[in-house]
Amino acid sequence: MLTRVRSIHSASLAEGAEYVLRNNDRGTMTVAAPRLYPHLWSWDAAFVAIGWAHLSVPRAITELSTLLAGQWSNGMIPHIQFSEGGGYFPGPDRWGTDSAVCAPRGVQTSGICQPPVHAIAVAKVLGRARDAGGPDRALAEDFLKASFDAWMRWHLWLAEARDPHQHGLVEIHHSWESGLDNSPRWDHSYAMVSPGPVEPYVRTDLQHVADLSQRPSDYEYRQYAWLIDQMRSVGYDDTLVRSSVDFRVRDVLMSAILSESSQVLAELGDSIGRRAQAAELSELAGRFRAGVTRAVSPVTGLARDFDVRSGEWIHTATIAGFAPLICGTNPALRARQLRILTGDQWMGNPSLAIPLPTSTSPASPAFRRTTYWRGPVWPVVTWLLAWAMHRHGEDGLAAVLRDNSLTQLAHGDFAEYYDPLSQAPLGSRNQSWTAAVTLDWLAERH
Ligand code: SER
Repeated sequence: MLTRVRSIHSASLAEGAEYVLRNNDRGTMTVAAPRLYPHLWSWDAAFVAIGWAHLSVPRAITELSTLLAGQWSNGMIPHIQFSEGGGYFPGPDRWGTDSAVCAPRGVQTSGICQPPVHAIAVAKVLGRARDAGGPDRALAEDFLKASFDAWMRWHLWLAEARDPHQHGLVEIHHSWESGLDNSPRWDHSYAMVSPGPVEPYVRTDLQHVADLSQRPSDYEYRQYAWLIDQMRSVGYDDTLVRSSVDFRVRDVLMSAILSESSQVLAELGDSIGRRAQAAELSELAGRFRAGVTRAVSPVTGLARDFDVRSGEWIHTATIAGFAPLICGTNPALRARQLRILTGDQWMGNPSLAIPLPTSTSPASPAFRRTTYWRGPVWPVVTWLLAWAMHRHGEDGLAAVLRDNSLTQLAHGDFAEYYDPLSQAPLGSRNQSWTAAVTLDWLAERH
């Protein structure tokens, strides 16, 4: 009886998720959310492609092709590619990337990047297409062969432009690059960002959430705008940005994602006979895995970001602390991190409505249950962790993360994030990547 109830429920949840993707589909791109984010975001697009692969492999490939149409000539995949629709700040005019030497022509983009989860999406779409066989499989194999060099250039740009001294950690110049915009892990670095006069702007994001405290503060936005103005003033030149921008942090989570994605891309390269490139990518994976492992605090067992300007490690207990679980590490550290993740400072915390990883530890003084990246649970982050658990042989925990997330998602609002104490949906509704990971989890469970 229970199984049957669950399967009826799963069917309607799948229909709801499919509706979200189709409703957010603008033909060749899926907007990240219908009102709050009316454009294509880089890491959103990767997760969205994973969702599309369950509905249409060709549509999944279109999403990834659209993303690549915005790639810069230096290899960077920008964090936003703008649709025709407006109503978002900062829009293309504010970014002013037309004057950047490396920006593509005919496609409007932002001037910064986001975590490189894309190879994971390529592998997932290909896996799905191989299962389906026939024309889907041929299309996905051709896509991999045609796009491999572009993904490779993206990874090499991150390694060269963002880790020129080979610390094994990716340097970011805006917290939007991390994807975890206002996480308390950035508070130390933002305390040193004192915005000068910025061109006037109107925040559009506040028109799309019921409770403004769910979004970053006005002062945070002023800092965000200031950093954009700084980068725009030097034409988004990699070297000039590094020497002039007020935010320079080695992001441990982004580094772990680069490491594991590089390993995935190496495996994809091997599968199409690109042996030399695959070897180079495996080397990159090793370099960033070592960097992430070195960033772990022996005291807390969590990985830390490094603020370049102050020369200090950042100790705040956020989800980024589990970066080694994404990219693999030595068995002792792995066991320690798994204990911490499932312990009472994190998933096992008695205040949580459902045991799931929160964006900040519920035991941390920095925890804010409803504010964007300061505490809520983000299903897409849970998916990434679960994916990594599978990959590194922790199938039991991966299944717990999946099933608990599906319980969280059962109401079908596909919220951007959730209050971990009450399970209230927060931020945007009908968020594309939330729908996408729901589809993937439901397919996996059946
Ligand atoms: N997440 C950002 C926003 O809130 C952009 O990357 O608009």
